[in-house]
Amino acid sequence: MPEKSHPDPLSLVPRPLEVTSEGPGGLTLTTATRVSADREAQGTLVWLQRELGAATGLPLAAGDEEDAQIRLSVDPGAGLGREGYRLIIDSAGVIVVGNEPAGVFYGVQTLRQLLPADAYRSTPLGGAEWRLPAVSITDAPRFRWRGAMLDIARHFQPKREILRFIDLLALHKLNVLHLHLTDDQGWRVEIRRYPKLTEAASWRTESQVGTSRPPVFDGRPHGGFLTQDDIREIVAYADARHVAVVPEIDVPGHSQAAIHAYPELGEVGEIPVGTQWGVFDEVLAVTDNVLEFYKNVFDELIELFPSTYIHVGGDECPKTQWKNSASAQQRIREEGLADEDELQSWFIRQLDDHLTKRGRRLLGWDEILEGGLAPGATVMSWRGEEGGIAAARAGHDVVMAPTASSYLDYKQSDSPDEPVPVGTLLRVEDVYESEPVPADLTEEESQHVLGAQVNLWSEHIDSQRKLDYMVFPRLTAFAEKVWSEGERDFTEFEPRLKHHLGRLDAAGVEYRPLDGPRPWHTRPGVHGWGYYPDEAPPEQGHAAG
Ligand code: ACM
Repeated sequence: MPEKSHPDPLSLVPRPLEVTSEGPGGLTLTTATRVSADREAQGTLVWLQRELGAATGLPLAAGDEEDAQIRLSVDPGAGLGREGYRLIIDSAGVIVVGNEPAGVFYGVQTLRQLLPADAYRSTPLGGAEWRLPAVSITDAPRFRWRGAMLDIARHFQPKREILRFIDLLALHKLNVLHLHLTDDQGWRVEIRRYPKLTEAASWRTESQVGTSRPPVFDGRPHGGFLTQDDIREIVAYADARHVAVVPEIDVPGHSQAAIHAYPELGEVGEIPVGTQWGVFDEVLAVTDNVLEFYKNVFDELIELFPSTYIHVGGDECPKTQWKNSASAQQRIREEGLADEDELQSWFIRQLDDHLTKRGRRLLGWDEILEGGLAPGATVMSWRGEEGGIAAARAGHDVVMAPTASSYLDYKQSDSPDEPVPVGTLLRVEDVYESEPVPADLTEEESQHVLGAQVNLWSEHIDSQRKLDYMVFPRLTAFAEKVWSEGERDFTEFEPRLKHHLGRLDAAGVEYRPLDGPRPWHTRPGVHGWGYYPDEAPPEQGHAAG
């Protein structure tokens, strides 16, 4: 009789739905191990040979189903649920069945976790035994949207870092990479029709350092952008790992870089690309030409990104300039709008209409609720849960990303050694224990919660090393929260997390140690929030410097 065991001894993260130990047997991978895959599972076979093959030094050659020790297949009839899989290991071999190709991929991710942590290196060290325990696992995710946002506008991350980030998302069974591609401080995607967006708007003369008042600057140009071929490569690489890449072009606020390249987009003529962090009055004009410009931008974006969801931003758009703008006031009158909030909603509705006609869905930050929600809009709730609750009650889908549990730029402890601490305290256990579905929603309303995501804003993240420090291990805690069903108790999770850190070490991830920063993680003299005794929290959001 197989004994039902707690998954603890295997330290699987995220915790699977059901794990049954099948006793002392098991399987050792050798040079003779063959792998078969049916047509729909071929992608995972290629991934397994490339990744596990490199780590173990084993060929893991393709074989026929009859003589393969590892068999990968897709069977929608197996009753495994969306993205679900079953993984069975005994001394005869390994069977991975997925409800769909993504399930097979997740099954193989679990298989990798069952090997020693050296399975996460890029080459074998010699002497390891690649032994898999006899086990039977049935698993499926709780949420369909398990995302992470990377802000490559404030500080650019080149293609190779984005590819690495995708690998780390896949390792954690996350499936959405939201790329924040534009902001006041830089435009990061090539648009053929408007070359100045990258020639002029993709770099700034210098960057604010920390949140000091008056601001301190580094005097050093910063920039970079992804070409359209880079994007195609990123999207294909992500797709092979069952990660959807959701692009965001942030309008009508956070648009200084675009206005620098094409001053006719704004209300005030020429302005520089932003060098300071915060929320600024310089926003887009709501003219026909501006709408035409952005429809063209989104049309190119749609060619590049197959994602159903296209993010249009919509956050933190001060209305000061529109109050004083003849063209904005004329639009308000002509369209019979009540005020500037409704003007913003009118602008977003034009984009919603445009994207819907092209078979895509508009996604926006929760400010898009303020002057009335566009009919096709999905809402990303960041200023707490209220936006998500209101949108779900109005019958719209939502993705939960409230600052208090989801902002990975926020400080990880109250220690003065945390590098450039901003935001409210967000420890790994806070990420783990918070609940993505707002308690106020009824069962029916909560069906509109597609899932959740964490957001990495990069005002103070100017290198991959700092990125690793801010993202890990909080991303690991988040992954379990959005994948695993059932109770979450940090004391149960922590030993598994500690084991998992060995995998991250092997993968070369410079996570924040659980007991706090090392000397080289600190940024002495660079101030974050709370430096000034009289300081009130910045007016809104993550960004305020
Ligand atoms: C945001 O944090 N401004 C969406």
